[in-house]
Amino acid sequence: MRASYPVHMDAAQNTTTKSVPPKDRPDVTARNFRAVPTALTSRHWVRQDPYATAFFNALSAVFPHGETFMIRSLVPWTERVPQPLRGEVEAFIEQEAGHSREHVAMNKALIGAGYDIAPLDRKIRAFVSVFEGASDIIKLTATMCIEHFTAIIAAELLKNPQHLSGVEDEMLELWLWHAVEEVEHKGVAFDVWKHATAQWSSPRRYMLRSVFMLAVTTSFFINRTLGQIELLRQDGVGFSTAFKNVMKSGFGKGGIGRNVLRPWSEFFRVGYHPWDTDDRQLLAKGEADLATIAANRAGYRKGSAIPAPTRQAA
Ligand SMILES: [Fe+2]
Ligand SMILES: [Fe+2]
Repeated sequence: MRASYPVHMDAAQNTTTKSVPPKDRPDVTARNFRAVPTALTSRHWVRQDPYATAFFNALSAVFPHGETFMIRSLVPWTERVPQPLRGEVEAFIEQEAGHSREHVAMNKALIGAGYDIAPLDRKIRAFVSVFEGASDIIKLTATMCIEHFTAIIAAELLKNPQHLSGVEDEMLELWLWHAVEEVEHKGVAFDVWKHATAQWSSPRRYMLRSVFMLAVTTSFFINRTLGQIELLRQDGVGFSTAFKNVMKSGFGKGGIGRNVLRPWSEFFRVGYHPWDTDDRQLLAKGEADLATIAANRAGYRKGSAIPAPTRQAA
């Protein structure tokens, strides 16, 4: 089904830089979402644009293993942090498990469309293997930094509907749902890390998180760029053309990479916390867009009555 997205065009005003105190932060809740099973109706499912499509495909290809790593990094801390953070960690794990599961389904659709995602899978496995045998705090630090990436990209998708405009409802719903949950749990790994390093000196904490963020950024930039170039190679696009257009698509005017540069740099501010940026209205917008898509699927059209829920006879 063709989406009526963007549903709300006033999203750019939906983020503020007023810090949100813990009591006012949104609850972290795993939604019971299952993607509608679908084959890709088009190989270039983002506006028939191979470069925009390659960005999302390259991310999806690495989500299952990447998010499994993050789950494993958080599990040892579940029993070490107090409530209510413990409950948030459990909800984080549940949310990421759902994302991993649904992106496995999307990746099957990519394979069905003729893509070989094994080279991208090998890259993320190699990244994860670097942390085999590392201490819990090192794995947690890496996860906390990766979570900054997923949160700022997710917020950008919710903020600027043009990135997913013209996308079929089934795919749009998957990405909006994932984006909403990433923004919702953006502070969880950071809060666990703060708890885990509470006895450290401020310079030691700052150094560790800054060095890790630079390393994770380098790895993310190189590997996701190479991932996109590999998928484009499978589309028949040569290396230099692919590289040039991936950079233009990501870092040209309005590109996702360009738009997240400032939120990315926020991480290096002394005293930074993910909820220094108030994304609550952005979350509400994402939820409203998801509800609209679900209503459309149920047959609701503007001006018609919302269909009564069907009940099975006892
Ligand atoms: Fe996720
Ligand atoms: Fe996440």
